[in-house]
Amino acid sequence: MITLHQINKDFSGPRGTVKALSGIDLHIQKNEFIVIRGPSGSGKTTLLLTIGGMLCPTSGRLTVGSRDIYALNNHHRARFRGEEIGFVFQLFHLVPYLSLLENVQLPLGILPGERHKDEEQARFFLNRLHLGERLDFFPSEVSAGEKQRAAIARAVIRKPAVVLADEPTGNLDPQNAAEIAGYLADIHQEGGTVIVVTHGLDCDPYADRIIHLDQGRVISP
Ligand SMILES: Nc1ncnc2c1ncn2[C@@H]1O[C@H](COP(=O)(O)OP(=O)(O)O)[C@@H](O)[C@H]1O
Ligand SMILES: [Mg+2]
Repeated sequence: MITLHQINKDFSGPRGTVKALSGIDLHIQKNEFIVIRGPSGSGKTTLLLTIGGMLCPTSGRLTVGSRDIYALNNHHRARFRGEEIGFVFQLFHLVPYLSLLENVQLPLGILPGERHKDEEQARFFLNRLHLGERLDFFPSEVSAGEKQRAAIARAVIRKPAVVLADEPTGNLDPQNAAEIAGYLADIHQEGGTVIVVTHGLDCDPYADRIIHLDQGRVISP
């Protein structure tokens, strides 16, 4: 379903060029649960952003289904991201001035006449993630685990085919980390493709495959 063919990504700056990804070849099946591991700076975030259609590689090709994602124009690539990709960040990235309910509704946009339906849907996901009592709370008023649960609700509200998570448990205590891993497993159980960068071991029992990155390359452990 997702194919990376000879993906290279270089970052050039005043200090020279960093090769963040070097010749990555990967094939990810629909409904796979993949864990990505590797030392800091090995290219994990770059790889996730590339898969999510958010960062154009220097060379190589990313295809999702029959689409060559970086050959699409910006408008079509934005639509691909909006409809098919859900992203979960290590630092949650909730909007501080919006309630949890409003944060979760954010990806739905403001479609005239859909407001009521959107709110119902956001409530549904927040309830499922045990945040039913926190709908009107602001991010600063809830715990880290609750913030990450809200961020997961926001990532899945449009029912994306692929959920990408970048160290989603990196800032959580063990109990919350295990819970987040469980939610990612639920998304996988329901047919989603899940790709998670993590140093923790919580996702390993659910993983179909563990991919190791080192210096921008996929290595065999
Ligand atoms: N926007 C950027 N500009 C310059 N260098 C970058 C940028 N993003 C990442 N890099 C470099 O690319 C390499 C891989 O980074 P990253 O994908 O963030 O690694 P990881 O997520 O595994 O820690 C690192 O050497 C990093 O410094
Ligand atoms: Mg990273």
